[in-house]
Amino acid sequence: MSQNIEALARKTVREMTPYMSARRLGGSGDIWLNANESPFVNEYAIKSDRLNRYSTCQPDELINAYASYAGINSQYVLTSRGADEGIELLIRAFCEPNKDKILYCPPTYGMYAISAQTFDVEAKQVPLTAEWQLDLDAIGQSLDAVKLVFVCSPNNPTGNLLNRADIEALLDMTANRALVVVDEAYIDFCMDASVVDLLDKYPNLVILRTLSKAFALAGLRCGFTLANPVVIELLLKVIAPYPVPVPVADIAVEALSEIGLARAKTQILDLCANRAYLQAGLGMLPGVHVFDGYGNYLLVKFPDGERLFKALWDNGIILRRSPVENCIRISIGNRDECEKTLAFIRQQLEQ
Ligand SMILES: Cc1ncc(COP(=O)(O)O)c(C=O)c1O
Repeated sequence: MSQNIEALARKTVREMTPYMSARRLGGSGDIWLNANESPFVNEYAIKSDRLNRYSTCQPDELINAYASYAGINSQYVLTSRGADEGIELLIRAFCEPNKDKILYCPPTYGMYAISAQTFDVEAKQVPLTAEWQLDLDAIGQSLDAVKLVFVCSPNNPTGNLLNRADIEALLDMTANRALVVVDEAYIDFCMDASVVDLLDKYPNLVILRTLSKAFALAGLRCGFTLANPVVIELLLKVIAPYPVPVPVADIAVEALSEIGLARAKTQILDLCANRAYLQAGLGMLPGVHVFDGYGNYLLVKFPDGERLFKALWDNGIILRRSPVENCIRISIGNRDECEKTLAFIRQQLEQ
């Protein structure tokens, strides 16, 4: 007998479209510059001697290693399955479903809205300005029932940094009303722009970080939420009992060791050089505009972005469509990948 299992699911879940990650979108080819992953493959030894035991909820060694890297006290650090889980935990801990709201500023990372939707939390949008900065006046007028304001710097997909003074103004504006979550997933590529030093001054500041980008560990699923201990304690109430698998903690600690940090630094420099190469090469092509980017990706405007995206896709160069008209987001790969991508685009535009 057939059963309508789908009808048992929550209405929101039945009706929602899941986040279309680069992996879900598929594609086939040799050059994958669509998920802002690192091209570097680093080796780690995997130990199996503790796998019969549950892991610690927040392994001390990992928390201390990240706190030291971020230059903060370890009470300010929570680790989770990627920064994505941090987003989810914040919404679960701070937003009452069907009552409280989050606010975010498109064009930006898609998961703030999707995570809110899965918990029946409304997501208000206040678009970035024409310069892709915060529209503080419009945000100020939209704060009713908002508990979390998500901003992203460097912003994905535009690549620009948000003005530090605007972030401070936002923190002042939302004091005692809402938390400001600054997503710094790409900050390792421009560490001076971090607002981590503001954590002590603003108890409503939360920062998201990850090992997925500059540390070349997207497959590890390890991220961090940095916030004052009151926020961290609240998040610990809703996190799963064993969120960090033992091998994940071991590898992450190694990545954050002195040797691991030195290697990450070299790889960051390498990627920044490739970014400069791609930016200069694309910038010379007629009708092409490359926006200044501070992460491991560039947003590029072409005369006919959709046609070019398809031509690249059909030829095994998989990039990411962007919501900004005629723009394609290109992750920075190794030099060979950057050269091939540039050569293909040059040849297409010359046709
Ligand atoms: C801005 C931004 N925040 C968060 C994430 C998620 O990071 P993680 O892999 O740590 O979940 C991404 C991934 O692409 C991102 O672009």
